[in-house]
Amino acid sequence: MQTVSLPHGPLAFLDRGRGQVVLLIHGFPLDHTMWNSQIEALASRYRVVAPDLRGFGQTPLGDIDPERGFRMEEFAEELVALLAALNITKPVVIVGFSMGGYIAWQLIWKHAGLVRALVQCDTRAAADNDEGRLGRLKMADHVAEWGSSRVAEMMGPKLFSPRAYSERPRLLDEIRQVVGSTSPAAIAAAQRGMAVRADVSALLPSIQVPTLIVVGVEDAISTRDEMRSIAASIPNASFVEIPQAGHMTTLEEPVLVNEALIRFLGNLRE
Ligand code: MLT
Repeated sequence: MQTVSLPHGPLAFLDRGRGQVVLLIHGFPLDHTMWNSQIEALASRYRVVAPDLRGFGQTPLGDIDPERGFRMEEFAEELVALLAALNITKPVVIVGFSMGGYIAWQLIWKHAGLVRALVQCDTRAAADNDEGRLGRLKMADHVAEWGSSRVAEMMGPKLFSPRAYSERPRLLDEIRQVVGSTSPAAIAAAQRGMAVRADVSALLPSIQVPTLIVVGVEDAISTRDEMRSIAASIPNASFVEIPQAGHMTTLEEPVLVNEALIRFLGNLRE
């Protein structure tokens, strides 16, 4: 991992390979390691940049006040600053997963010129309903007393397909490890940011770049139907369903996700 110094504090990122830049934006409350298998698959053909978002993995929360929260557009601006610090001037392929997808919408919305193509995995375009928003604020208010490990236990059943949840304990352990070592303050800041995120559904028809939408058919957080309708709203988007996977497609079915990514990237013209 390397770090770049940004106004809110250092930001850690992995930078591997050469060629077309592929920016991998992880989900909540995870870090760049959720992409390990994709990094391995892509780094021989592309330049893969995989940051740890503000507060996650090896990136400290810096000067962010967890009570105020960190909004999706603020995460996005830090990624713009990262690309600038790396002197990356050609448009990049953005790959967002879940919360990373919320951030990716901000990039395509506010910095369309930076985006060569878009891949959205297991994410949503709609804002939260009242129940979802309240659930986030409750976690933000209590995570300091609960501890991060309890967050991992609470989220586990929603992150994986029922089968993976009961039969693949190693996957669950991996998540427990990452979530358990995330600071409660970072969890609170991101939850408050997600709670106020905008509904970007109206933006979808204006997306001009090649787009791939990927979803696990058993995703309980960003459902197959919701993602199918996102794909239908974006001109010429491709839609790939990953059989037997829940929300964590990149971990549950890495081979299928990698195949979809490599096919999509291979079809992009120079
Ligand atoms: C994620 O995987 O990033 C989260 O489940 C997103 C969310 O809480 O909406």
